[in-house]
Amino acid sequence: MEDTQRVLTWEEEEEHAKVDVWKYVFGFVEIAVVKCAIELGIAEAIESHGSPMTLLELSSALSCDPSHLYRVMRILVHLKIFKEITTNQLGSKGYAQTPLSHRLLKSGENSMAALILLESNPVMLAPWHGLSARIRGNISNQLFEEVHGEDIWSFGAANSDHSKLFNEAMTCDVKAAVPAVIKSCIEVFKGLETIVDVGGGNGTMLRLLVEGCPWIRGINFDLPHVVSAAQDCDRVENVGGDMFDHVPKADAVIIKCELVDCRGFFITGVTMTAFLSLKSAGKLFLRTRGR
Ligand SMILES: C[S@@+](CC[C@H](N)C(=O)[O-])C[C@H]1O[C@@H](n2cnc3c(N)ncnc32)[C@H](O)[C@@H]1O
Repeated sequence: MEDTQRVLTWEEEEEHAKVDVWKYVFGFVEIAVVKCAIELGIAEAIESHGSPMTLLELSSALSCDPSHLYRVMRILVHLKIFKEITTNQLGSKGYAQTPLSHRLLKSGENSMAALILLESNPVMLAPWHGLSARIRGNISNQLFEEVHGEDIWSFGAANSDHSKLFNEAMTCDVKAAVPAVIKSCIEVFKGLETIVDVGGGNGTMLRLLVEGCPWIRGINFDLPHVVSAAQDCDRVENVGGDMFDHVPKADAVIIKCELVDCRGFFITGVTMTAFLSLKSAGKLFLRTRGR
């Protein structure tokens, strides 16, 4: 296929640059506004209203100043997170949900709200401010540890609210991933009686897995402070411990998402421990994010 894209002249690039640089001046606004939308519960208000809401209806439902809310809604509509649609023949406008705004709901299988709230939280943002120092090699610790004085897991153990937010955030991904895995490759779970999820957080992954594969018994293995706050669930046992020392025995081991940052080395050590914990002919499922 012919490449129809013309190479821009330096002068044209200059013109683009004058506009584009503002994205970096105010780049934080998008995430701040999305965080604000989640905290105010805008998606919940429109969802429970059951139809598009005018600015006055929305501001009254959320107990907000309409003029402030209007400015936030303008950005959210510009970002295509909510739609502004004509609701009657008089031309009144109302805000309506989109698939993206559904992801800002605090519950439901598509919810990504907890993950957005976690990553936009000052605790998680602070380490990013040290990125250049880390690249220059002026900091040898993990950035989280440099900023907070302890690694992310010890920080969670000492800060139960942060730990709760972290564990809820992790389930956002799980709720979408597990049904897809069960739907597309349930056969890999056939013949397994027990599965241990290493770093399984609050146990949501195993709960969904044993619901979809009722012949399986799960062991949710994570740090003691994490499993002590995990939900109780039939056929899932919560076990606390350190995966670098020991992983409970099972027919198969699941390791999902990066366990890279916990001790500064890749998961090889954990993988080895996990292998040792397998009964003969067991399986190891690894799932990491593509980065
Ligand atoms: C990135 S989270 C992934 C959670 C979950 N597997 C998922 O994908 O949603 C890593 C998990 O590993 C746990 N973890 C970290 N260090 C651990 C250790 N030494 N032993 C056991 N679990 C650990 C954390 O508490 C956390 O729940």
